[in-house]
Amino acid sequence: MDGDFVECGVNRGGFSRAVAHYVALDRHPDRTFYLLDTYCGIPEQDRGVAAEHYTTTYPDCYDEVCATFRPFPNPRVIRGRVPDTLAQVPSERVAYLSIDMNCVGPEIAAATYFWDKLVPGAIIILDDYGAGVWHRDQREAFDRFARERGVEILTLPTCHGLMIKA
Ligand SMILES: C[S@@+](CC[C@H](N)C(=O)[O-])C[C@H]1O[C@@H](n2cnc3c(N)ncnc32)[C@H](O)[C@@H]1O
Repeated sequence: MDGDFVECGVNRGGFSRAVAHYVALDRHPDRTFYLLDTYCGIPEQDRGVAAEHYTTTYPDCYDEVCATFRPFPNPRVIRGRVPDTLAQVPSERVAYLSIDMNCVGPEIAAATYFWDKLVPGAIIILDDYGAGVWHRDQREAFDRFARERGVEILTLPTCHGLMIKA
């Protein structure tokens, strides 16, 4: 399907780099991969809604991520706090949205922002959706989000949640 790629919560880019490789993004100069993160961890103001017991810290990795995605035609590495940076994604046609920030407020804000921009058949992949008690807030919030939009979330064996925009 037509459309751009987005990940909110990139860290060093392992997941998005694998996706870019898998879909041979280097052969699609018409597509942009938007990569949104602070590149230095969960912002202080979001720590209150971070997944329960979530204490991981993330060293600064902005330069590393820019270097990792340089071989691809159109990477846009966007640094800053989601949702503040969402407006820096101008795409009105998104085929793929990955959400992995481990804090519920910014995650729901991202899903809400992109929902109307998803092309028919586009997917949203939710990291840790099925990961149990540590991510219960995210799961409940995304269950509500999906119910309000008349879609269901498939839990994958990897604990990811998968939503498809009809
Ligand atoms: C679990 S890591 C992402 C891992 C990545 N998806 C992967 O699989 O390689 C979570 C990331 O979310 C980012 N993050 C958390 N809250 C954020 C927010 N409100 N805005 C932007 N980035 C955020 C952190 O900086 C961290 O890099």
